[in-house]
Amino acid sequence: MGKGFFISKTVGVVGIVLGVGAVSTIIALSVVYSQEKAKNLEVSPTKPPTTTTTSTGAPATTEPSNEQWHKYRLPDTLLPESYEVTLWPRLEKDATSGLYIFTGGSEVTFRCVKETDLILIHSNKLNFTKGANGHLATLTGLDGSSPPAITQSWLEVRTQFLVVKLDGNLKADQRYVLHTQFTGELADDLGGFYRSVYMEDGVEKVVATTQMQPTDARKAFPCFDEPAMKAIFNITLIHPRDRVALSNMEEIAAKNITIDGIEVTETKFAPTPRMSTYLLAFIVSDYTSIGMMAGDVQIRIFARRKAIAAGQGEYALNVTGPILKYFERYYSAPYPLKKSDQIALPDFNAGAMENWGLITYRETALLYDPAFSSNANKERIATIIGHELAHMWFGNLVTLKWWNDLWLNEGFASYVEYLGADDAEPSWGVKDLIVLGDVHRVFAVDALASSHPLSSKEEEIQRPEQISELFDAISYSKGASVLRMLSSFLTEEVFVQGLSTYLNTFAYNNTVYTDLWDHLQAAVEKTGSTNKLPPNSRVHDVMNRWVLQMGFPVVSIDATTGSLSQQHFLLDPDSVVDRPSEFNYEWFVPITWQKSGTQGTAFWLLDKTATNNDLKVTGDQWVLANLNVTGFYRVKYDDANYAKLLNQLTIDHTVIPVINRAQLIDDAFNLARAKHVLTTLALDMTKYLKAETEYMPWESALDNLDFFYLMFDRSEIYGLLQAYIKGQVEPLFNYYQTMTEMWTKVPDGHTDQYNQVNALRMACSTGISACTQLVQTWYKAWMANPANNPIHPNLRSTVYCSAIAAGGVQEWDHGWKMFQSATIATEADKLRSSLACASQPWLLNRYLEYTLNATLIRKQDATSTIVYIANNVVGQPLAWDFMRANWAYIFNEYGGGSFSFSNLINGVTKRFSTEFELQQLQQFKKDNAHVGFGSGTLAVEQSIERTQANIKWLKENKDNVEKWLKQFSP
Ligand code: BES
Ligand code: ZN
Repeated sequence: MGKGFFISKTVGVVGIVLGVGAVSTIIALSVVYSQEKAKNLEVSPTKPPTTTTTSTGAPATTEPSNEQWHKYRLPDTLLPESYEVTLWPRLEKDATSGLYIFTGGSEVTFRCVKETDLILIHSNKLNFTKGANGHLATLTGLDGSSPPAITQSWLEVRTQFLVVKLDGNLKADQRYVLHTQFTGELADDLGGFYRSVYMEDGVEKVVATTQMQPTDARKAFPCFDEPAMKAIFNITLIHPRDRVALSNMEEIAAKNITIDGIEVTETKFAPTPRMSTYLLAFIVSDYTSIGMMAGDVQIRIFARRKAIAAGQGEYALNVTGPILKYFERYYSAPYPLKKSDQIALPDFNAGAMENWGLITYRETALLYDPAFSSNANKERIATIIGHELAHMWFGNLVTLKWWNDLWLNEGFASYVEYLGADDAEPSWGVKDLIVLGDVHRVFAVDALASSHPLSSKEEEIQRPEQISELFDAISYSKGASVLRMLSSFLTEEVFVQGLSTYLNTFAYNNTVYTDLWDHLQAAVEKTGSTNKLPPNSRVHDVMNRWVLQMGFPVVSIDATTGSLSQQHFLLDPDSVVDRPSEFNYEWFVPITWQKSGTQGTAFWLLDKTATNNDLKVTGDQWVLANLNVTGFYRVKYDDANYAKLLNQLTIDHTVIPVINRAQLIDDAFNLARAKHVLTTLALDMTKYLKAETEYMPWESALDNLDFFYLMFDRSEIYGLLQAYIKGQVEPLFNYYQTMTEMWTKVPDGHTDQYNQVNALRMACSTGISACTQLVQTWYKAWMANPANNPIHPNLRSTVYCSAIAAGGVQEWDHGWKMFQSATIATEADKLRSSLACASQPWLLNRYLEYTLNATLIRKQDATSTIVYIANNVVGQPLAWDFMRANWAYIFNEYGGGSFSFSNLINGVTKRFSTEFELQQLQQFKKDNAHVGFGSGTLAVEQSIERTQANIKWLKENKDNVEKWLKQFSP
């Protein structure tokens, strides 16, 4: 495209934007509103006439449902090449409509690849200003072609298209430009071009920002909004002169102009590389930044002025360079842009979003202040930066063709985020934590009959809600787990070699997941590593079994005979799996193992059963398999081997690697739930904890005992359970008391700091008086002197929670006041979760009411706050009633979220364990079928299945657990 043309087009767009003034705003917004209403009724307000004619003049014969515009996917007739987009967000309310709006103009250059008389381009909630031709768009031809005339143009609300019909065909290989001008609402709905609001020095400040993934770029400007429709984007933002404008690329020009008497600045950004629409970002704010160079790449951190002034961006700035450089080495590919901006937003739905060159974050995920932030907050910042930077190549440079392969994109980033964070903070040992954070976490979900395979078929994923549903624990955590397994059996050396050729081959293009297998296979062959795979097998053969069928195996090992077998692990052994699998729920399982501390040779379990004589033990030797849980499977042993492992744990647990101690506990508890072993065996695994000080086994035990608490905290067994845990945790509490010299020092190790929190939390919740007194003294001191908080940031969540639980309205109100005046979001979050610990129902009900008032609890935090309340045994029934009563409102007002609905439904119902609760849940499903559950649809099924399993579990286990606890409680 010639330079002259480029400039004259831009002038044209400014003219367009200029023309869309305040008068049209009112019309615009009433249309936005009527579209919304129409969406609910599923009819279009601007329906085309029922009889249309084709380009040949013949009447249209197809039924409406067969028309292209009634389908969700774009036809294969047009391909975008470049866009010129100008957007002008208004940071003040429009006086007449009382709404925040933006206006815009766009010109998209596209190539026709198949003759067609129809232009379909995504558009959602935009109102178009008619052109001179009386239509919603105008069309020009490039390369000397003159385009056919537009005969009809309308908006399809359900499928989110702007439809343009022509009186003749566009010609293959010709390029055209579609011009539009439009208005949209800059709503506080966290999707598309939206507004975020915060107070600074008593002044309300508005940030105009974007969240496009997965399908909301179409809410900011009309675009071919599919990930394979890559194009070059030339973005221009119009904004107040005293505000900063940011986009994916660096600024190339800024000039002051006056539009309709309004003095503004017009900032232009460099053309993007060929990229997908979902990765675009535009932000106008009053922010400042700090920055540095990492080689040739400019790194900047943007945030509220006060946050930057307080140094809250420093940590993120310091780790970004090393992590970016780490990934350049890991991928053997340079970072493809000149700059990498990262920005913290007060209102943000997800944790962070990998917009190319302009990553957006929730404030808690980017801003760090040692005076307020815990080491957990710090770890989250390092890993989330790792995650999003990993996407800059894997996802952004090379993009999966369609959303059905989302698991590979998110699973990959969720795996390598640990590698990036580990490089920045090598002393933390974060790589091990994937076992708790992803492997164990997703085992729980993937063991349900209602689970689903990682990979979906392209045709199955059509509607935006179906796309949103894919952002779940399976895609993220199972994806991460199986990729870690793959990297581990291939070795990292082979893995990164395949990865690098994959990225370099498909740069600026799209792929399907098997392209990665192809490149890994090539790397296996090239490096002479076929021995890393089963005989005569390719990467595909192994991975298909993990990717195309849901669930995972439990491998049973009989160490007396050396025989082993595999079986689909189902948490509820009676549940019915109605999803067929071409692999019969068998896997190719990489078996790593050791015998009483001596590592054996890894091998593959390829069939249902096998024998390996090396696994046989004699005397008090024991076998341990799945070392460091690099394999995505559980392990079960014969009774004798369990007895010897338990004995080893008792006499010297350090012989067993720390991750495997966590695994033994997690496997035993879950095998017990699935009736593979006795529940008492699982409880037996916790006996040695009296001598355990490591975080991972403790965390694993507490995660699993959490289930016991959920099942028993409303029953007579609760007292016994408390007494037992109290006895187990007391030595840990004393250990930390000594180590920290009466809680005045911070443990050195990262995970020791975590386990200190566990010690304190459990000691207080089981009523160890030294603990309860300690925390109440701290909290009282803080209440007396709010400007001087004596509690270490690592311990705050726990201390606040214990003190608020033990206290009354005064403790609660202090917490609330501190929440409202917090100057850093991590502190606010600690208080927000702790306020849910109150024991008085009226405090909890009042708090529930606050969650639906966006001026009190930000929309981004509403669902998690409700879940916090439900975690509290007193709050549980209140939260359930509240969610049921307000479902329609919550769904409509807080929709668009990705994780929130499934978390809400699963969170509020996780204690359900009676027939009556099951009935209520089924009733809830029926009553709200017409409203829908959006991204929480699967969660409703999971909750029903979980409740049924809980009912059965209680029936079968209550007496035995009671007996065991009576025997082993002090
Ligand atoms: N691409 C996602 C953000 C996203 C999630 C957009 C859901 C749209 C819907 C981003 O890369 C991501 O995965 N963020 C995670 C953080 C990560 C550390 C797991 C998040 O937001 O929680
Ligand atoms: Zn991601």
